[in-house]
This record gives sequence, structure tokens and C-alpha cells, in this order.
Amino acid sequence: MSEIARFKLPLRYRGSEPSVWVEYIQLALDYKPLNLGQGFPDYPPPKYVTDALINVASDTTQHQYTRDFGHPRLVQALAKLYSKLIGREINPRTEILTTLGAYEALFSSITGHVDDGDEVIIIEPYFDCYEPMVKYAGGIPKYIALKPDPKNGKVESSSDFVLDKCEFESLFNSKTKAIILNTPNNPLGKVFTLEELTFIADLCKKYNVLCISDEVYEWMVYEPREHVRIATLPGMWERTITIGSAGKTFSATGWKLGWAYGPANLMFNLQMIHQSSVYTGCTPIQEAAARAFETELDRLGTDECYFVSITRELKPKRDFMAKILREAGMAPIVPEGGYFMLADWSALESQVDLSSEDDKRKDYRFTKWMIKNVGLQGIPPSAFYSGPHKHFGENFVRYCFIKQDENLQAAADILTKWKAGQI
Ligand SMILES: Cc1ncc(COP(=O)(O)O)c(C=O)c1O
Repeated sequence: MSEIARFKLPLRYRGSEPSVWVEYIQLALDYKPLNLGQGFPDYPPPKYVTDALINVASDTTQHQYTRDFGHPRLVQALAKLYSKLIGREINPRTEILTTLGAYEALFSSITGHVDDGDEVIIIEPYFDCYEPMVKYAGGIPKYIALKPDPKNGKVESSSDFVLDKCEFESLFNSKTKAIILNTPNNPLGKVFTLEELTFIADLCKKYNVLCISDEVYEWMVYEPREHVRIATLPGMWERTITIGSAGKTFSATGWKLGWAYGPANLMFNLQMIHQSSVYTGCTPIQEAAARAFETELDRLGTDECYFVSITRELKPKRDFMAKILREAGMAPIVPEGGYFMLADWSALESQVDLSSEDDKRKDYRFTKWMIKNVGLQGIPPSAFYSGPHKHFGENFVRYCFIKQDENLQAAADILTKWKAGQI
């Protein structure tokens, strides 16, 4: 073996390098388009959230290591909140783990539960890190794509994408260890209904399968849809790990603070991974998040509660985005939750020189062409499908609409000019 070859990426990690985020963040830096690609607000978090961090910064007691499995004040606040939402007393010491973003919660859940040869069901389109995480753990991902189910011949809402029940059940067998559920879903914005979740839950119980439920967009759900936590369904608390994110909850993605909650026997496995890889999260961020949660706990469910007002803030942005994409000739899929929108751009194919890009996937070529020639950045959704299913994403682009109104208007102006042949 040559000296260099010795330092190649270990076999178990191959096939997952580098992610769509790495590539598209670089494109944003190189071409400086209007970036509606990556999912973060381009405006500040609520003032009481940043004030909490300012106050913590000047509190000299908050700058050393804190408790390994979660800062005491934060796990108390999370236990209080989720005990109410789940309808059972959550033990802050044994049933919650705080993590470095929801990413680490996913990593600890998957690595802590998936063994060599275990099968893990992933519903497509999925947040792209699920696949490599399952593979790193020695697991075998089994995929099922949500399929369009047109209403009156049209697919216009994320609710028009559904699970094929027979295909879904056929993925379950004695080797199935877990399913990864994401509701509201990124990138589609689908919010699974009680009926859909009951169907999934019944199969989890029938085949003794763990449910890892990624609910980072739990507060961004548009009426009339409601967020249902699968852990609240009969017999599901015992087999569900639910994941959340302060980055999403408080519109402060740079905080990279997440958590997982579930029964102590399931959480023990996560704690074991966490204690030897991360050990303890950032103290001041956890303290500030705890204070922010305490503020929200006092006004939970009221109009002022950020968990209520964030949807009020986002809905006009969502509707504006759908309108400008329609006017540009795309066919948006209006999301029921989250802050992303998929849009079918295939009607515009004749206006785009896809031959100028050499990527295998059409959506990569389209999004790169748009960045370089039109100055608008989206994300190619085939990144959210497994190899054999990538074609399901190719006619789409994903845009993020948690952006200032001026920037959404700037996107509208760009698209109008493009349509008029002025770009
Ligand atoms: C579905 C989903 N899960 C998890 C994460 C990761 O969240 P965090 O930034 O808290 O690590 C994201 C971030 O975009 C996401 O969209």
C-alpha cells in the first residue's frame, strides 16, 4: 500500500462524501446568488432569545462544563414542556439527552440502537444524513418514497404525497430494527396525519421496531394540519425516541443545540454513545435555551408564545413563495409544515441550458445553472433520495422561505426578470 493510500477514508464511510451542503455552500460563496438554499432564517432570532444569551454571557457561573447528559436547568425545562405535550411525566435525568444539534441526537439514536445487519426503514424524501448514519452503524437502509396521489388531477400540496401501505408493510420483517420518521418532513413539508401515524405505529408494534421520530419542525405546522407526536399513540412511548432542535425552535440554527427524549431503557443507549464521543454540550447555550423555554412555558399556547407566532409569521412567506414560483412557471408543492418548498421546474426546461453543467442529475444541473445565470440558489432534491430513487427528485428544486420579506421580494424580482428574458 502506498503511503498516501493508507490514509484513505475508511471503507465504512465511503460513498457518502461530500454532502450537498458542502458543495452548495461553496457555490453560494463563489457566485453570491440570492441564497434560498440552506435552511436558516436571514433575520435575528426573537429578542428575548438573544437577550437570554447576552445575560448568560455575563453570568460567570455559566462557563464551565455542565452535566454530561444535559444541563440541569435545560432538562428540567424540556421535561416540563414535553410532559405536557406527551401527556406523561418525563424524567429529566433519565428520559432526556441534550445534544450538539438534532444531528447528534440522530447520530446517538442510530449508532446506539442499530447493530450490524439491522434493517432501518427510511421514508423518502429524507433529511440526507439519515442514510450515512445508518450505514456507519453497520445497518442496512430500506427506502420507500412518498408517492404523488393527485387530487383532481393535480399535485399541489405536500399532503398529496402518500405512503403506499402495501409497499410500506412489505419492508418490515424480523431484521427490521428501526424506522426513521420525519414529521413535518424536510424537504417536502409533509405533516403526517393521525391516520398515517397510526398505521406506521401499528407496524412498529407488530414487528417490534424502534421509531426514531425527527420532529425538529414541530412548531411550524400550518392550519388546518396539526402536529401529532407519534410517541403519544397507544403503545408507542415504549418504542419511540423523539428528536428536537433549539436551532429550529428558536430560529437560532447556529446554536446547534438539540435533544432526544424517550423511555429510560432506550435513552441509555444514546447516553453511552454521547458520553464517549461528546461527553457534554455547551453550557452557556444550554443555559440560554433553558431561560428561553421558561419564558415560553409561562405563555404556552397563547398568541404571544413564539411556538404559536412563528407559524403566523411564516404562513404569508410560504404563500408568497408559492405565488412567485407559480408566476415563474414552476409548480410548487405547498408544504403543510416546516419552511421549505419543493417546486417542479420541468415546464421551464427549454429555457435552461442544462448541457452547460456535467452533473449526472438534472436537478443538480438546473440548480447550478440557476445559481450561475439567474442568481438564485435552491437545493437539488435528488440529494434526499437513495440511489435508485433519485429520479423522483429530479424535476424539483427546494427553496427555503424563512427569509426577510425584502429577500423574498428580491427572489420575485429575479424570477420576473428571468421570465421576461432580461437576465
Ligand atoms: C429534518 C432535520 N433534522 C435534523 C436537522 C438538524 O438540526 P440541527 O441543526 O439542530 O442539528 C435538520 C436541519 O436542517 C433537519 O432539517
